Amino acid sequence: MKRSGNTVLITGGSKGIGLELAKVFVREGNRVLACARNAQALEDAKKVVPGLETFVCDVSKDTDRQALFEWATTTAPDLNILINNAAILNAMNFADDAIASTTIESELSINIASPIHLIVLFLPQLRRQPLAAIVSVTSILAYVPFTVTPVYSATKAAMHSYTQSLRHQLKDTPVKVFEVMPPPVDTAMADGLEAPKMSPSDVAERAFNGIVADRAEIRLGLTKASYYMSRIAPALAFRFINAKGEKAG
Ligand SMILES: NC(=O)c1ccc[n+]([C@@H]2O[C@H](COP(=O)([O-])OP(=O)(O)OC[C@H]3O[C@@H](n4cnc5c(N)ncnc54)[C@H](OP(=O)(O)O)[C@@H]3O)[C@@H](O)[C@H]2O)c1
Repeated sequence: MKRSGNTVLITGGSKGIGLELAKVFVREGNRVLACARNAQALEDAKKVVPGLETFVCDVSKDTDRQALFEWATTTAPDLNILINNAAILNAMNFADDAIASTTIESELSINIASPIHLIVLFLPQLRRQPLAAIVSVTSILAYVPFTVTPVYSATKAAMHSYTQSLRHQLKDTPVKVFEVMPPPVDTAMADGLEAPKMSPSDVAERAFNGIVADRAEIRLGLTKASYYMSRIAPALAFRFINAKGEKAG
């Protein structure tokens, strides 16, 4: 992908990795649009990212996604990169807990259904551009589940699978498909996790460099080792990921 001159929409761009991605893309000469649910967090993000344009949207709601699409493509008819970054994470134990169906539904919706619906909405727009990209932010847990977060881990594995199929189906179009796979990262999502964490700014820099270098699967930090271990010694990889921690991304 080109380094500058892109117009990018980042879901979940108000904090954490999404906010850091917004900073890097803007710094490198790209126009950035971001959405999230919390309006104040988006206002705060604008104060630290020059030129950031924001829209309040819950990506799990069909009407919100439609409104986001109308706003983004009207505001930025040359929009050429969609970054599906928004996600939530819930710890849950199916052996002990009575788990609310709404908790499961929202995690499934935000983490896997919503990005797929957004891709369907935005694909015609992206295909009209000379060069475009879809970026899925998944996780180290796409390869090996963390049993404390079973639904989250499953959504990341599902998004990894879907992203591979999407890349194959779009191979003869102008739309490139990238996947960013961070290890544990020092954001609100990983609060309480006792593990070495990469900084969100480091994730954003490395993800940006990977996209510019056209690396389809961008495995960051510990994700590289986890990837190889999961292929060569899956049981060992499972033990390694589940050795400790309370929550993980
Ligand atoms: N942190 C980690 O350890 C880690 C590791 C690997 C991968 N990841 C992945 O990296 C991505 C970013 O995670 P993060 O750590 O930066 O999380 P974060 O700090 O919790 O930020 C999540 C962002 O998504 C937004 N969001 C959540 N639900 C949304 C919804 N329904 N509609 C619109 N926006 C929504 C949040 O804003 P609102 O709450 O205001 O909506 C926020 O801007 C996720 O895909 C995550 O799975 C994280």
